[in-house]
Amino acid sequence: MNIKRIGVLTAGGDCPGLNAVVRAVAKNALGHGMEVFGVRNGFDGLVRNDIFKITNETVSGILTLGGTILGTSNIANPFKYTLAPFGTPENPRDVSSVALHNFKERELDALITIGGDGTLHMSQQFVELGMPIVAVPKTIDNDLDATDQTFGFDSALHIATEAIDRLHTTAQSHHRVMIVETMGRYAGWIALRSALAGGGDIVLIPEIPYNDDVIVEYILNRKRRGKTFSIVVAAEGAKNEKGELAVARTVAGSTDAIRLGGIAYKLSDMIEQRTGIESRACVLGHTQRGGTPTAFDRWLSTLYGAKALDMVLEGKFGYMASFKNFGMAEVKIADAIARLKRVDPHGAEVKAALEVGMSFGSAQIG
Ligand code: F6P
Repeated sequence: MNIKRIGVLTAGGDCPGLNAVVRAVAKNALGHGMEVFGVRNGFDGLVRNDIFKITNETVSGILTLGGTILGTSNIANPFKYTLAPFGTPENPRDVSSVALHNFKERELDALITIGGDGTLHMSQQFVELGMPIVAVPKTIDNDLDATDQTFGFDSALHIATEAIDRLHTTAQSHHRVMIVETMGRYAGWIALRSALAGGGDIVLIPEIPYNDDVIVEYILNRKRRGKTFSIVVAAEGAKNEKGELAVARTVAGSTDAIRLGGIAYKLSDMIEQRTGIESRACVLGHTQRGGTPTAFDRWLSTLYGAKALDMVLEGKFGYMASFKNFGMAEVKIADAIARLKRVDPHGAEVKAALEVGMSFGSAQIG
């Protein structure tokens, strides 16, 4: 295909590795003699025509840099735009035609979108309007089914595991229960893997509803066995058997309308009251999304970025680069958004956790 000018954007929540993907896309494209343009702040830059030229200098030295040099937004949805001057939270507007117009006016031949679930949905909507898009899956949550792993997840996992390691020593010294709250939305990958890696005692994930009585009994039982501290790893999206979630706030117009958060405080109060053991909550929050990507994420991001540009060259529009069996593959964006990838309560990881004595706060799994 005769592709001369490409755009690239990063949308949704940031995560380590975004810059490494942008760098790989740009270096591969510039190496093919293309012009490369960065769209600022996700799809917002297309609506506002906030687009700038990327050169080799722009991407030099960003492989190890956290965040995104392009900026991002997880509220700018051109199909339900709530931002001034076009829309308001009460009056969202469809400004996708403005984005499409700017894309054409800039004479872009293709766009590479780097984002999670929400970004993929918007990308698919634009593909249906005729925009030539190749997508790259990003999220610390690792909840996209069409790829074995998203970049950003490994870095978040390392941060959560290090936090559990650190909380172990203080929990032990004070004979406390420490509740660590991880991100992950409606999937328990960060919580489960960091609990396995950090030796958590109880892990609560959205896929396995928990029961307060089971948690309390497990902690008291540990105490009876002489263990005066416990580590509880709670995914922000974990819910109890009544289906109750901890919701921090709602965000109008966002593709992710509910922001989860606060389960650690809820559990800390409940555990302290019912066990008599002093408890503290530690919410890891956005630390899981910040800073330098791990070596694995730098490697994976580079593969994703290089592959996405190869797909542009082959005219694979409407497709997403995917990581399968330690190699790169292609899947339709429409298929990639069909299903979220969640922890299998009957899978090997849950089984291993139970076999090393961890509790999911549930008397019965499945
Ligand atoms: O999807 C990534 C993620 O970090 C989730 O784990 C979390 O629930 C959400 O984004 C937080 O969003 P925000 O940055 O708007 O607080």
